[in-house]
Amino acid sequence: MRRTPPSLAEPDVARDPYPLYRTLRDAHPLHHDERYGAWLVSRYADVRAALADPRLVAPPPGRTFSHLEQGTHAAHRALVSPQLQGRALAAVRAGVERAAFVLARRLVRREEADLVEEFCRWLPSAAAVAALGLPHEETARVAAWSRTDLTHLGAVPAAVADALRPHVARRRVRPGDDLLSVLCTARADGRPLPDEAVVGIAATLLGAAGEATGRALAAHLANLLDHPAQLALVRARPALSDAAWAESLRRDPAVHLVLRRALAPVPAGGGTIPAGATVACLLGSAGRDAARFPDPDRYDLFRTDPGRLAFGAGRHRCLGVPFTRMIAGAGLSALLTTLPALAWAPGFRPAPAGLLTRAPTALVVRVR
Ligand code: HEM
Repeated sequence: MRRTPPSLAEPDVARDPYPLYRTLRDAHPLHHDERYGAWLVSRYADVRAALADPRLVAPPPGRTFSHLEQGTHAAHRALVSPQLQGRALAAVRAGVERAAFVLARRLVRREEADLVEEFCRWLPSAAAVAALGLPHEETARVAAWSRTDLTHLGAVPAAVADALRPHVARRRVRPGDDLLSVLCTARADGRPLPDEAVVGIAATLLGAAGEATGRALAAHLANLLDHPAQLALVRARPALSDAAWAESLRRDPAVHLVLRRALAPVPAGGGTIPAGATVACLLGSAGRDAARFPDPDRYDLFRTDPGRLAFGAGRHRCLGVPFTRMIAGAGLSALLTTLPALAWAPGFRPAPAGLLTRAPTALVVRVR
């Protein structure tokens, strides 16, 4: 008889979910986790199909970007997406690179530093503040909110909404060329976006950068510091930086789990998810599926196809993909250029934590 796998709610699983993921993929590709209250989907192909299935929707309750009614959701995506790529992104690149160098140079004279505290928590927040056109002094507040209640796709904390409203009011009167101004002057269905919608989108971008991107950057740096030969290759050939980032997102994604609610019975993993059920799409498991990736636990920046599920799939696929790649590239380049001896501090081992989002909580490095 097959043993029931442990629950996602077990503290041991949060410490290291990979053994559970393997059990699920091998023997329970569709599993009802009673304690967690969700059906678990764990294989790459099933996770991808579930994310793209229109019968599986963002679960209530919620008033985030992902919960917008279908027409409004498509309109807001069409508005925001071009502002996070191409020319709009090129316009903030220099500022992000500068911020990365300023942060890295602060470490130069130190023996040791914690890159989570002193780099990863700051750079993505600085990048989002720059993209929105907020004063750069706001970076400290955004970084502080991202430690507590401002998350990638969570509710907008009242303090964040209160802080953003005066900036919105100013852009309504005197728009500039930043993303907040684009949102303030845009029309969706022929009407300007209400203040609450502008504040909601801006807060989503700040949280996505500060929380998810900060964590992804920490997991990325941990992978490279754990593989000094591959780190040396990226140092010698900076063009490998994007491949290294993609491989980190496959092996150790920042978002491990995306929830959905089934509007109808949906076949998955050889079974059927019942209508009304909650579904957990396990991105962290999908990236380690041996049926999709040879030797999936190995970090290999030369992997030709690291997959693309770390940012989801289907109509809710992340809008921040090019933006995060730019932040990761600027961050790594600044650290490698400024700190030639970067390596783990003696005896230090990173300890990833979290299940919804997951990353090392500290990265203590030797700087010189
Ligand atoms: C490496 C960092 C990031 C990761 C791993 C990540 C991951 C994800 C994932 C998995 C989803 C899909 C959620 C779902 O299907 O329900 C998502 C959605 C989203 N992401 Fe990200 N994200 C990151 C950074 C960002 C950034 C920097 C931004 C904006 C600047 C952003 C904006 C969004 C938005 C707006 C959505 C909702 C899309 C929709 O519902 O249509 N993300 N992200």
